[in-house]
Amino acid sequence: MVVCVCNAIRERDVREAARAGCCDPLKAYASLGRRPRCGQCLPFARELIASERAIAA
Ligand code: FES
Repeated sequence: MVVCVCNAIRERDVREAARAGCCDPLKAYASLGRRPRCGQCLPFARELIASERAIAA
């Protein structure tokens, strides 16, 4: 599933970035060489990162 339409970032990419230590969407997107544009995806990306880090904890 695509999380960020502007950057074509998939849920899997965000979860992998979270597991690699990215604690917020900005860092996760930066690790993928991208950055937010419209910002609509950020709340969902934030949730994904929080859930992934909760699983890893
Ligand atoms: S959908 Fe992610 S920045 Fe627009």
